[in-house]
Amino acid sequence: MSLLEVRDLRVSFDTDDGTVYAVQGMSFSVEAGQTLGIVGESGSGKSVSTQAIMGLTPGATITGEALLDGANLLTMSEGQLQSIRGSKVSLIFQDPLTSLHPLYRVGSQIAEAMLVHGHVAKAEARARAVELLGQVGIPEPAKRVRDYPHQFSGGMRQRVMIAMALALEPKLIIADEPTTALDVTVQAQILELLARMQRDYQTAVILITHDLGVVADVADEVVIMYAGRPMERAGVEAAFVEPHHPYTQGLLQSIPSYSGRTGKLRPIRGYPPSLMHQIDECPFASRCPLVHDECRVAPPPLKPVGTRPGHLSACVLPSDRVGLVAAEASQAAAGAAER
Ligand SMILES: Nc1ncnc2c1ncn2[C@@H]1O[C@H](COP(=O)(O)OP(=O)(O)OP(=O)(O)O)[C@@H](O)[C@H]1O
Ligand SMILES: [Mg+2]
Repeated sequence: MSLLEVRDLRVSFDTDDGTVYAVQGMSFSVEAGQTLGIVGESGSGKSVSTQAIMGLTPGATITGEALLDGANLLTMSEGQLQSIRGSKVSLIFQDPLTSLHPLYRVGSQIAEAMLVHGHVAKAEARARAVELLGQVGIPEPAKRVRDYPHQFSGGMRQRVMIAMALALEPKLIIADEPTTALDVTVQAQILELLARMQRDYQTAVILITHDLGVVADVADEVVIMYAGRPMERAGVEAAFVEPHHPYTQGLLQSIPSYSGRTGKLRPIRGYPPSLMHQIDECPFASRCPLVHDECRVAPPPLKPVGTRPGHLSACVLPSDRVGLVAAEASQAAAGAAER
């Protein structure tokens, strides 16, 4: 059984302008000790998917299933969810300043998290806070533990967030663009830190990012999301070497290291569909270089493709058309982009 199994998650928001169908059938799973990368363009529903299952989208209409150790998060009370957040599951967001309280010392905030959720004594929580700050690479932790968040740099604050996330030895860390605001060197250090912590604690990680390079470096599995749905799910090697979905191929094309001899970034032509209605065809159809009639009938469900177990794609193309098709589709995409 997976640590977390999400099935047919649908999340919508009622707004003054109408209903926003932000997530329209997301599914994925995460195993203990593994890293799942969720990638996709801005607005594809990466944050909403993970926030909704943790009870962090007030007012949203949510259906589907999200089984954590077999228990459905979507039917739990706010109280139950609150106790799961920060004990079994920790969340790290892009901007650590919004998650740290400006008026409390960093050490107290880490200790407080342990006191609220755990069963440790105060002195023990204090000592553990110092130990954790040291583990995440804060120099002179015994001294810095008394500092306030504004006395830390952005990279250090993100380390503090990771220390807080680790304080309770969660089974799962959800990291939503944890390094996007940081410079490349600090980004690499933070990702390395997450990986090391993961090895030491067997924590599962969901890493949300729009950086395919980061996913290639650190993820075991990847879900490529588009317009609120998974387009492709695969082990990281299959996703990069034998992509099936034309959208995945387009994404790989759009990053310089994969875009061939020119090294030029080729954006995918067109725009994602509006989320103000429920999409009743393949959401990528209008941008797909290989589109045909079947794509307009209904959104294709994920089906097994390629040669590697666990490789799924929501595309009607024959399931053995992986890898080599990439060249074919990308030529078509490049041609379309140039026209
Ligand atoms: N509270 C809300 N009310 C209405 N619409 C919302 C709300 N929260 C999110 N949305 C919409 O849901 C869609 C998905 O948003 P989400 O934040 O999950 O995207 P994302 O993939 O995380 O994008 P990014 O890469 O920019 O963070 C967007 O169209 C967004 O505008
Ligand atoms: Mg987001």
